[in-house]
Amino acid sequence: MKISQLPEDIQKYIIPTPNGTMLYRCLGCNNHFGIDELLYTCPDCGTVLMLEDSSFDRYKDISGEMWRRIFDYRSMICDPPLKGIFRFYEFIAPIIPLDKIVYLGEGHTPVVKANNRLRDIVGRDFFFKDDGLNPSASFKDRGMACAMSYINYFASKNNAGNILAICASTGDTSAAAALYASYMGAFLKSAVILPQGKVTPQQLAQPLGAGAKVMEIPGVFDDCMKVVEALAENYHVALLNSKNSWRILGQESYSYEIAQAFDYEVGDKVIVLPVGNAGNITAVMSGFLKFYRAGVIKSLPKIIGVQSEHADPVYRYYLEGNPDKRVFRPVNVKASVAQAAMIGNPVSMPRVIEVANAYNSIAPEKKVFVVQVREQEIMDSMIMANRNGNVVCTQGGESMAGMKRAVELGIVKKDETGILDSTAHMLKFLSFQEKYFNDSFEPEFNVKPVQRLKNFPMLVKPSTLGKFPAPGNPLTGKEMDEFVTRMSTEIAGILDLEKR
Ligand code: F0G
Repeated sequence: MKISQLPEDIQKYIIPTPNGTMLYRCLGCNNHFGIDELLYTCPDCGTVLMLEDSSFDRYKDISGEMWRRIFDYRSMICDPPLKGIFRFYEFIAPIIPLDKIVYLGEGHTPVVKANNRLRDIVGRDFFFKDDGLNPSASFKDRGMACAMSYINYFASKNNAGNILAICASTGDTSAAAALYASYMGAFLKSAVILPQGKVTPQQLAQPLGAGAKVMEIPGVFDDCMKVVEALAENYHVALLNSKNSWRILGQESYSYEIAQAFDYEVGDKVIVLPVGNAGNITAVMSGFLKFYRAGVIKSLPKIIGVQSEHADPVYRYYLEGNPDKRVFRPVNVKASVAQAAMIGNPVSMPRVIEVANAYNSIAPEKKVFVVQVREQEIMDSMIMANRNGNVVCTQGGESMAGMKRAVELGIVKKDETGILDSTAHMLKFLSFQEKYFNDSFEPEFNVKPVQRLKNFPMLVKPSTLGKFPAPGNPLTGKEMDEFVTRMSTEIAGILDLEKR
């Protein structure tokens, strides 16, 4: 739709102009730093940073009703930079010029209501928000679109001709980083560092296909992260892990989209998401908080982070009820089917603590929870979700198992509705489905298939039939008739079909 066709009072808001002041804020010493330099940690005390718009209050001059109309009408226009997550431009990174925004189709992911069968398993109405339907098939594209748009802007401002973007990954950040870098041209190259044997073949194929330099190293993600941190500290590289706070801003769009999908009424919603490096839960809370502070939404939804029993440092931290006594301790992870979230020392932990505090202090009651689920429950949930019309990865299975646990624990009230993050496409995690169907999980996973959920292809090739067609060798005439008759009779027998 053309802007001139929109209501007159909206038109001037549709195409935003860069404005405001963004600063890095250190979560340790609270110092602020300008964004002319790419920073990941505080130069003074080494703690992680958050990016803030120090002129955010100007957005309160626009009414919540007006914001809602701006976003809804903006969704109708055809301007590529505003088509994806940047249709929430003012709430993401309002200093990036529109012509520097990189858009590869991220965001706008579907919110799909679970059928009655799944609802009965979980105990409440719920939806999956399918973030696997992003360009590189995970939610990471949201953060990457923002971080890469900033790098694009940064490079042109500083005439930087040769940037190497680097990340450690459990497989999805690397796929997203490599994809966006490959789009952006010669000035940006990407290198990814992966824990050997701890990403799926599909995830490994993604950065290879995008032409990134792919390095596998022994250990788990936490070890790769340490190596990448050392590289970022000592060499000229652009770090693309969620330690990079531009990533967090882009991932806030997940919350903005949920708000929009439910007509900005989210007070009775429960957002459930898997927690690994804890960037996503930080972003989701922060996004809702910003919308709340600007009056775009009137109440905050509940947030439930989910961790596997094999990688649960955030869950353990919150087990202590008294905030003053909480001590964060990294854990040694064990093999997990939610492999992309198999992280023992999340870099965003200081962010989670601060943002969850802010979130809980605004709401009249506690709103942020972390639950723990078993590996078996994650796998059964993924398989059941996919058998009921959804496209859910193991981490999405973790969300579903977490929702069920939260209902059992009385965290989710009767009239509340879940929105579960299926963070990646199920096709990336086929190897876990395969292990389930073949009953071939290594003992450390501690997962056994439910027999009735197993599924296999069946070869139909009657031994009494002499000839079969093959590429380049088709059957003809009588032989073909015989083939079709015998095969269809055989298949009708297997399927127990009634004759017409
Ligand atoms: N789900 C998927 C599919 C993921 O890839 C990740 C993290 C998570 C959930 C957890 O999100 O880290 O923000 O708490 N993957 C990162 C990666 C670590 O390298 O791809 P988080």
